[in-house]
Amino acid sequence: MLKLGVNIDHVATLREARYRGREQGDPDPVVSALACEAAGAQGITAHLREDRRHIQDRDVWRLREVIQTRFNLEMANSPEIVAIALRLKPDIICLVPERRQEVTTEGGLDVAANVKSLTDTREKMNDAGIEVSLFIAPDPSQIDAAARTGSQFIELHTGAFAEAFHTEKQRDSELERLISGARLAHGLGLKVNAGHGLNYQNLLLLYRVPHLVELNIGHSIVSRAVIIGLPGAVGEMLRLMETYRG
Ligand code: PXP
Repeated sequence: MLKLGVNIDHVATLREARYRGREQGDPDPVVSALACEAAGAQGITAHLREDRRHIQDRDVWRLREVIQTRFNLEMANSPEIVAIALRLKPDIICLVPERRQEVTTEGGLDVAANVKSLTDTREKMNDAGIEVSLFIAPDPSQIDAAARTGSQFIELHTGAFAEAFHTEKQRDSELERLISGARLAHGLGLKVNAGHGLNYQNLLLLYRVPHLVELNIGHSIVSRAVIIGLPGAVGEMLRLMETYRG
């Protein structure tokens, strides 16, 4: 069964728009995580960015206390955040690139150029009982490098596919890259997640990609929640995900 990890960063973005620098404020990403779990989500994802633009340190500690499903901490491979993760002990971390000016995580990790430092972090995390995923473009050299780090998962970056969704030729070629990327990763013993830009429209086409274990979805669910509420938005996504055949 394909699993849903709901990315709740966008809930924190809304809170920070009004309450930046304050100790509390609405909407509370922790309350939203509990609502997602109650609606059937199999995991919660939060990105503790170095610039703390949305999720704050206090959020991740409270999330660690209350999450009953699977807590996926997205993070940069930076000493400060690695130290926090080792104390926090999420179930899994997903290493992502971070650039200060980006609106959201824009590209995949350059694993091929950083095999040594990513392997070091992977070993520290695994020693602490934390699984490791690497967020990468569906590029054979990056997938191959990801396998060499010994990571358990990759998360295939679906942003280019989502961006090209309304341009048939480009969309099909992005889809082909994802399909062959998933096959290659599976063959190398990596478990395959996917995320970024996925929504209620583009998901069905993505189902041509084999071997998917979990999808991490944020913006489209939180946007839908503004209209129909979080339980309904998560429920609609879960129903769409029931049709995935692997
Ligand atoms: N996966 C990763 C690694 C991400 O960085 C993001 C964006 O924070 C997502 C999934 C979710 O993307 P979206 O909000 O577009 O669904």
